[in-house]
Amino acid sequence: MVDTPKQLHLNAFLMGVGHHEAAWRHPRTDAARVHSAAHFQELGRIAERGRLDSVFFADGLAVGPRIKHNAQAVFEPVTLLSAIAAATEHVGLIATASTTYSDPYSLARKFTSLDHISGGRAGWNIVTSAGADEAANFGLADRPLHRDRYARAQEFLEVALALWDSWEEGALTLDVESGVYADPNRVHTLEHESEHFRVRGPLNSPRSPQGRPLLVQAGSSEDGKEFAARYAEAVFTAQRTLDQGRAFYRDLKGRLGRYGRAEHELKVLPGIVPFIADTEAEAKELEQSFTDLISPEYSLRQLSTMLGVDLTAHALDAPLPPLPPLDAIEGNKSRYALVKDLASSESLTVRQLIGKLGGGRGHRTFAGTPEQVADELTTWFAEGAADGFNIMPPYLPGGLDDFVDRVVPILQDRGLFRREYTASTLRGHYGLDDVGNRFAQGTAHRAG
Ligand SMILES: Cc1cc2nc3c(=O)[nH]c(=O)nc-3n(C[C@H](O)[C@H](O)[C@H](O)COP(=O)(O)O)c2cc1C
Repeated sequence: MVDTPKQLHLNAFLMGVGHHEAAWRHPRTDAARVHSAAHFQELGRIAERGRLDSVFFADGLAVGPRIKHNAQAVFEPVTLLSAIAAATEHVGLIATASTTYSDPYSLARKFTSLDHISGGRAGWNIVTSAGADEAANFGLADRPLHRDRYARAQEFLEVALALWDSWEEGALTLDVESGVYADPNRVHTLEHESEHFRVRGPLNSPRSPQGRPLLVQAGSSEDGKEFAARYAEAVFTAQRTLDQGRAFYRDLKGRLGRYGRAEHELKVLPGIVPFIADTEAEAKELEQSFTDLISPEYSLRQLSTMLGVDLTAHALDAPLPPLPPLDAIEGNKSRYALVKDLASSESLTVRQLIGKLGGGRGHRTFAGTPEQVADELTTWFAEGAADGFNIMPPYLPGGLDDFVDRVVPILQDRGLFRREYTASTLRGHYGLDDVGNRFAQGTAHRAG
């Protein structure tokens, strides 16, 4: 399948009752919904009404003191997406899972199961877990180094890809007459051994409709970009300005050739947090009504995590203190660079900075009319900064309703977005080719 050139791709990045850090306190939301499967099923149906490519959930593996001021304890995403699969028919279902704190066999099986359950709609946002407090829940004294996390991630992917190939298409024969259930010649072991993993295989789940989940990646450091160029079919990224978005896009696409891949095989999706209202002034007022509810204590903790410096006692009306160099950051390197650049390029005080980060933790926040939001997306798409967007509603479900009912029709009228689904799988929605199987093609090699 070849991608239709001028179509953009839209993913709804769903988080609790909205991305804004004060969303749960705002009159437009009901905080109790955060722990209701029905809430998320409703969001899945809204995304499907807008013919969006997919919905996506992030995940973290620890709860810290920030729980005092915001939802941090959330459903495990693959489990949640199974519930959404049952309530929807078309929309893709992307779950975050960590290569640092899981093992390839169990995780490959989970995604194969979700792909079966959803009829070919599963996607995996591959993360290496940048948080400092996650290690303590997995028997580690400290978070592994950035470089080591990506090295493990690469091994992890090689094992998972081999496991997904371990069942060839048609290996399940189900021959009732002869009593042959599966053809063992088409079910393969891997005998994988590498630094982190020893896995015999095969997977204990037959090949799923897509063969494997859509592979998504969301790290933008040097290691992150190289990893994405090798494996990812979609990349989520935080880019603040059109110029930065364009440079990132060209950089990532330029790396694909090294891995024998063509540009259309990887979709770049920058995030946007849209505040939508009838007039620009109303949209800005709406945004301000969320900013007014921010808890500085929460924001300072969040900022400290992003910058690797304790700012919890820092004066709100002062600029940032001197920051460590990028090399010293072992957490999320790309977000560190973005926040540092935002503060210095606009000479912001800490109070101003946390106001700007409140909507989407560094993702671009945009307040305007439906037409203005559509114009922003159209410009980024036309100017070569995006293949589509990670839509991050600041509050839910209303912010997603507004995007779907007011912005999507404009994009459809401009011929930029589908009016109906034309594919049945997530990979199909993203205009990507079906994946092959190394064993069926006789290209089997020992993973690692
Ligand atoms: C849209 C988006 C969503 C992300 N979701 C998660 C997540 O759910 N869990 C996580 O541990 N990291 C998440 N990340 C962080 C990245 O996966 C990655 O760990 C981080 O960007 C650090 O990688 P880098 O140093 O290569 O930039 C997300 C990043 C982006 C841009």
